Amino acid sequence: MSDLSVELFGVRFKNPVWVASGTFGYGMEALELYDISRLGAVVTKGISLKPREGNAPERIAETPCGMLNSIGLQNPGVEGFLKKIYPEIRKVDTHFIVNVFGETEEEYVEVCLALEEADKVVAYELNVSCPNVKKGGMLFGHDPVVLGRLVERIKGKVKKPVLVKLSPNAGDVVSFARVCVDAGADGIVLINTLLGMKIDVKSQKPELSTMMGGLSGPAILPVAVRMVWEVFSHFGFSIPIVGVGGIYDTDSALQHVLAGAVCVQVGTANFFDPYAPLKILEGIEEYMKERAMDSFSELVGRAHRLVPRP
Ligand SMILES: Cc1cc2nc3c(=O)[nH]c(=O)nc-3n(C[C@H](O)[C@H](O)[C@H](O)COP(=O)(O)O)c2cc1C
Repeated sequence: MSDLSVELFGVRFKNPVWVASGTFGYGMEALELYDISRLGAVVTKGISLKPREGNAPERIAETPCGMLNSIGLQNPGVEGFLKKIYPEIRKVDTHFIVNVFGETEEEYVEVCLALEEADKVVAYELNVSCPNVKKGGMLFGHDPVVLGRLVERIKGKVKKPVLVKLSPNAGDVVSFARVCVDAGADGIVLINTLLGMKIDVKSQKPELSTMMGGLSGPAILPVAVRMVWEVFSHFGFSIPIVGVGGIYDTDSALQHVLAGAVCVQVGTANFFDPYAPLKILEGIEEYMKERAMDSFSELVGRAHRLVPRP
């Protein structure tokens, strides 16, 4: 049997196939379909300090090879999560990573602190594609100074590892990754959705109530793989990279891994094929078996070793 386990920031994951925030609820919804303890980890929907209703409809639109969403981070708040959802999660034999967001630095810190004693939660994933109300709505992840301060502040207060999920809309991804590394982040997650828009030509109006939304799905795979490649080129194995964006089958997952991702998250594919994460897991095992590889870690960043260095 190939060894698919991965150790990151002192936590051992049974395999590198996780599910992405916002595309798998809190994990419990999938229990009727399959045993989710087969997954390497479940990243929850984004959690904020107070409950949020989310945006008005329409919040989803189909696009070529993908979808746009403007859900607006609907969630029950951290207390609601701990009271209603966490007791169920505790019974599942896999790790949970809570995706955290806030409108101020304090809110991020408070959400993380509220989760410190929840032992099933092994790490926090910061969604920094959120408006900072104290900075006039500028997204946390779009300003390097604001991002660095946020990560440093959280790292100074919490015990659990902190992953930062970067936006592909902010500009040079390597410099934003550098800010996170310098601020003490334990991992970089690449990428969140790309800003997009769809217009309905019958009504001649934008389809989403918010006009613009986040593009996800196979359409964004090449962008995500490029960003994983760029960040790995600069940082190598010095910080773990988790790849997310456009993964829907074994090939697309392996592209992330060969570019430098040590784990992958399956997102939008869960909507059109709920079994995609399991198929990918089996596909990676098969791929390794065909090549007589014992350890998954041999694949991480391998494409870099096979191209001439400038
Ligand atoms: C409906 C929906 C909701 C999402 N909610 C969140 C969220 O709460 N927090 C977050 O960081 N990312 C969220 N995402 C982004 C995904 O986790 C992922 O980064 C993105 O969709 C790219 O991966 P994919 O192409 O495999 O879907 C959401 C995506 C979708 C489609």
